[in-house]
Amino acid sequence: MIVVRTPKTKEDFKAYYALRYHVLREPFNQQRGTEKDDFEPISQHFMAVDDATGEIVGVVKLFEKEPGVGQVSHMAVKPSRQRQGIGHILVEAVEAAAREKGYEVLGLMSRLTSTKFFEKFGYRVVGLPTHYFATVQLVWMEKSLKKPSP
Ligand SMILES: CC(C)(COP(=O)(O)OP(=O)(O)OC[C@H]1O[C@@H](n2cnc3c(N)ncnc32)[C@H](O)[C@@H]1OP(=O)(O)O)[C@@H](O)C(=O)NCCC(=O)NCCS
Repeated sequence: MIVVRTPKTKEDFKAYYALRYHVLREPFNQQRGTEKDDFEPISQHFMAVDDATGEIVGVVKLFEKEPGVGQVSHMAVKPSRQRQGIGHILVEAVEAAAREKGYEVLGLMSRLTSTKFFEKFGYRVVGLPTHYFATVQLVWMEKSLKKPSP
């Protein structure tokens, strides 16, 4: 079973950042350290753990981009475990945390290769794609967390 928890120990964080680096930076020959950004200290971190083995198979973080707007970032699922529902579990966990924080909007910079994934959960592209590094382009996507009026 996959459980989502917050990294707490030094070992948790080591494995958490290692997966982030492996999925999001290593394929583009980026140096170690580039998997972190300035928002680490003000972010909530989540990791999906296979409780049968204790292995970390997915990661994501959440921070307040501006008042009322949460930003999801650095979402990554271990390549051999992709398309098995782990991304979905992480989206649900991060959305629950965003609602708890009272954010009205939740957004993210999606790779163009992942927009279809986020569209499945109600995110819509807002704005134009921008080059990030190498061949990667990112585009802002967002969804409202406000309950529809009755
Ligand atoms: C994008 C990513 C997080 C998705 O995680 P995942 O565990 O593979 O996704 P899930 O298995 O939970 O997929 C949920 C649904 O989205 C679909 N889906 C997953 N990735 C998709 C993609 N890239 N394009 C289109 N659909 C996708 C699945 O088929 C599934 O559809 P279903 O509910 O109809 O069966 C993962 O592929 C990943 O880490 N990719 C590399 C890094 C990345 O792009 N991160 C995104 C932030 S920039």
